Amino acid sequence: MNNMSESKVLRMELGEFSYDIVIERGALHRAGELFDLDRKVMIITDDGVPEEYADAVADMAAESTVFTVPQGEMSKDLGWYRAILTKMLKLDFSRLDCVVAVGGGVVGDLAGFVAASYMRGIDFYNIPTTVLSQVDSSIGGKTGVNLNGIKNIVGAFHQPKKVIVDLDLLKSLNTRQVCNGLAEAVKVSLTSDAEMFELFEKGNIRENIDEIVYRSLMVKKNVVEQDEKEQGLRKILNFGHTIGHGIESFERLNGLYHGECVALGMIPMVSGELRPRLVKVLESLHLPTSIELDVDGVFDAMMHDKKGVGDTVTITTVDIPGHFEMKKVSFDELKPLIQIVGK
Ligand SMILES: NC(=O)c1ccc[n+]([C@@H]2O[C@H](COP(=O)([O-])OP(=O)(O)OC[C@H]3O[C@@H](n4cnc5c(N)ncnc54)[C@H](O)[C@@H]3O)[C@@H](O)[C@H]2O)c1
Repeated sequence: MNNMSESKVLRMELGEFSYDIVIERGALHRAGELFDLDRKVMIITDDGVPEEYADAVADMAAESTVFTVPQGEMSKDLGWYRAILTKMLKLDFSRLDCVVAVGGGVVGDLAGFVAASYMRGIDFYNIPTTVLSQVDSSIGGKTGVNLNGIKNIVGAFHQPKKVIVDLDLLKSLNTRQVCNGLAEAVKVSLTSDAEMFELFEKGNIRENIDEIVYRSLMVKKNVVEQDEKEQGLRKILNFGHTIGHGIESFERLNGLYHGECVALGMIPMVSGELRPRLVKVLESLHLPTSIELDVDGVFDAMMHDKKGVGDTVTITTVDIPGHFEMKKVSFDELKPLIQIVGK
């Protein structure tokens, strides 16, 4: 996958909900060919994404509307969800029309949920424009919004019809956002792809970005195919997220990004032997490895995480790269682990 002009197609095999993930530099400009845009198309983007990306899709569609939400997690809420649905209703969108997301995970989750629920579900296409959304959030069908400060608490499973992963779109993304997304790639390398973890340890990330995106998608695809609705195995994709989400919910005002919180959340979940190696990788990606935090505050936020069932939560731990273990633990057992990343 080092050949930059190479095109790859991964097929997500989910029976009647199967779809292609087209990984190809420049493929944004083939959206008209790859997607069925010969209908009404609601293109959802945010004001931090270069507008020419959404405009390029609009130019290829029969009848398009671009809806731009403000950039940031705050747009993943019921207010914007309602505003977009209202617009679609006004424009007489039917069950045969479609939604296209052009943006990062925020836009993808919001647009996906709009598509999942408008007239009980219409076609959804995704063009992820951040590393995080290219390696992770654009595939797998999880859509949703936040409510009362709790992340992703309202949503639906709704698989896209097709996904275009165009790495050229990352050229406009700043380094902090690139590294933020790479945290999710480090996550899957730890649970499922030891060779990818070695790539991170060797460095030269920019040179290997095509391979990292491809390998991350491969891992996620394999996991989702085995467990679409997160009954078991898919929980490994939440590796680092239990404490990570707690930090994210509590620390949001401090401005940490999702991937940065996941980076912190993974550190207590690896073995003592692996921890210094992981910290080194995260440092090389300029990701945080410790933070001044209020353990009780993070703990309370974590308790609200929807993945908790009663007093217990399923966590994933990693002893050596590529080898994970899942276990149920009580929230009280997790509390001392939060301190590991405290300054
Ligand atoms: N559905 C899932 O399976 C899943 C998985 C992981 C994360 N998520 C969700 O994803 C969200 C985070 O996604 P994210 O990290 O992509 O954040 P994001 O969508 O907020 O994008 C980050 C920033 O980058 C800007 N941006 C996007 N593309 C750009 C580009 N090409 N050039 C320049 N700027 C660009 C955006 O305007 C935004 O300001 C969270 O809400 C998280 O819960 C969902």
